[in-house]
Amino acid sequence: MFKLDVLKKMTTEEKYKYMLILLEGQLSSEKDSLANLCNASAIINAAMDRLNWAGFYINRDGVLILGPFQGLPACNRIEFGKGVCGTAAAEKKVQRIENVHDFPGHIACDSASNSEIVVPIIVDDRVCAVLDIDSPELNRFTELEEKYLVKFVEKLIKYITWNEI
Ligand code: SME
Repeated sequence: MFKLDVLKKMTTEEKYKYMLILLEGQLSSEKDSLANLCNASAIINAAMDRLNWAGFYINRDGVLILGPFQGLPACNRIEFGKGVCGTAAAEKKVQRIENVHDFPGHIACDSASNSEIVVPIIVDDRVCAVLDIDSPELNRFTELEEKYLVKFVEKLIKYITWNEI
């Protein structure tokens, strides 16, 4: 059973370290990539405070298609180069956006979102997916969040076969 009580007493960085432990624990016992990706989005949502959306967009034939997520229903398809997600995919670079309303071409799925971080998931130089996280708080994502979300993705890719999803 998943116990959240332990998170309540932790500092922010301790929570993020624990998030990586939870990911390894949950995914190492399962081979199904879809199940693993579903749990990965749930682990982020449980371990990180003040979020309104956390999930994945999967690269299918050059288009980012909505994958497992936690939050309100979201747009189904994002082209490379469009929005924050498509920019992360096209540039193969983390996008950490203090205020999404200042980002040209930002795609608003949930009007509650004010800041966003998108981490491209790259295997053998191919962008397989992006991890997208939104917050209602301005400037929610700092270097600390970026550091641990990049580590999260590095661990995650060991347990996902992207063409199975
Ligand atoms: N804001 C994203 C779209 C996806 S939603 O946030 C879930 C973007 O601009 O790419």
